[in-house]
Amino acid sequence: MSLADPSTNALLVRGVSRHFNGLVAVEDVSLTIAIGERRAILGANGAGKTTLFDLIAGDIPVSQGRIEFHGEDITNQSVANRVARGLRRTYQMARIFPQLTVLENLIIAIIGVSKQHFGLGLIGQNDVRRQQAMALAERIGVEAFAELKAETLSHGQRRQLELAMALAGDPKVLLFDEPAAGLSPLERIKLTEVIKSLSRDITLVMIEHDMEIALGVCDQVSVLNWGRLIAEGSPEQISQNQMVHDIYLGRKQRDDA
Ligand SMILES: Nc1ncnc2c1ncn2[C@@H]1O[C@H](COP(=O)(O)OP(=O)(O)OP(=O)(O)O)[C@@H](O)[C@H]1O
Ligand SMILES: [Mg+2]
Repeated sequence: MSLADPSTNALLVRGVSRHFNGLVAVEDVSLTIAIGERRAILGANGAGKTTLFDLIAGDIPVSQGRIEFHGEDITNQSVANRVARGLRRTYQMARIFPQLTVLENLIIAIIGVSKQHFGLGLIGQNDVRRQQAMALAERIGVEAFAELKAETLSHGQRRQLELAMALAGDPKVLLFDEPAAGLSPLERIKLTEVIKSLSRDITLVMIEHDMEIALGVCDQVSVLNWGRLIAEGSPEQISQNQMVHDIYLGRKQRDDA
């Protein structure tokens, strides 16, 4: 199958724009992401990366354009419908239930993506969802904290938990928003291992400022600037792109100021 074959596309974004009153957050962005691909989305602060995820996930409607998921038009579908199709996202700030344990958070994620609705109180010790939750915890390496309340976790452990929650059910496409933000060097290495261990049945789109991770685990890179797609290519092509260097240098100088 060639990449042009629509049956191989996990995500097709066509001419998508999002304006907030007068502000152009995302402007005429088109992306073709193949099934199993690892795609990095780069761009300076405010470039429109998270807004693009909001549009793909359905958290906010597009102002213009079309989004296809595994060949189906999802532009006007609800978040729940997109989740049911296998689309998952994480947020820039981890969204977990701090008063619940790690395992309970994972069980809620599993219940959330299944079509059945149970209360947590109905989940017995040997319930299959508890076993699935433990399996997810082991997959991401948070099993040692399974019985701890999420509020007691470190920042890095919370982010790991959020990744584990995103893997609940049978995800086809994962959108990770800055998964390495705030992680220690050791946690970054672990995150890279987790990402590399994901099945190639799963497509991953990742916003990431850590160039080592973004360029190290991704096959293709798309660069946004002021809401527009300004460059696309392999990690080698992007790391040699002068415009991309200028944007990141500019960002670094702003951060240093
Ligand atoms: N709900 C909103 N209402 C108004 N403006 C918004 C809203 N969400 C985002 N914006 C604006 O849209 C632009 C793009 O923001 P976005 O959060 O998508 O950037 P980003 O690339 O994710 O940046 P960062 O690297 O800082 O996370 C910014 O100017 C932002 O202020
Ligand atoms: Mg963002």
